[in-house]
Amino acid sequence: MPALALLQAAMDGRKLPGSKRRFTVPCMPPNNLTAQAFDRGYGLKNTILITGGTGFIGSHAVVELMQAGFNVVVLDNLCNSDVGVIERLATICGHAPQFVQGDVRDSALLDKVFDLYRITAVMHFAGLKSVGESWQQAAPV
Ligand SMILES: NC(=O)c1ccc[n+]([C@@H]2O[C@H](COP(=O)([O-])OP(=O)(O)OC[C@H]3O[C@@H](n4cnc5c(N)ncnc54)[C@H](O)[C@@H]3O)[C@@H](O)[C@H]2O)c1
Repeated sequence: MPALALLQAAMDGRKLPGSKRRFTVPCMPPNNLTAQAFDRGYGLKNTILITGGTGFIGSHAVVELMQAGFNVVVLDNLCNSDVGVIERLATICGHAPQFVQGDVRDSALLDKVFDLYRITAVMHFAGLKSVGESWQQAAPV
């Protein structure tokens, strides 16, 4: 299924093909680029990078993708979220996504992430703009 169709399905709340809801024991993720992350992540196919993956929309996309069997790498600087989200994702999905704490504007870090993981698609949710705020403070036209 193409990434955009996946995203649309995830945002519509539809169940993706092969998606299973599993609730098992939480596990702690690595919070940095570690050898363990390398072993688990490198070489796996269909690895999706979710920027802002601990945020509101990103975390929902992570759940849908993981439950559909994708490997997920989350990149988030936690400026508007909490690392505890990774634990909750592990509880919902049965295992934690790979988690890299960092800024999406850090090009050296992005190079490292793309070297380390075989990323096949990126879903970019790392943003600061709040939709509610945009409605309340819309610029006059
Ligand atoms: N929530 C909505 O209804 C909605 C609707 C349409 C579009 N959007 C857009 O989607 C994006 C995500 O929305 P959300 O509601 O999930 O917001 P959110 O604040 O819950 O999530 C954004 C995530 O991105 C992270 N982040 C922010 N800047 C970062 C950076 N420079 N590097 C790494 N991580 C960074 C934050 O820590 C947070 O976890 C926003 O751009 C928003 O405008 C949201």
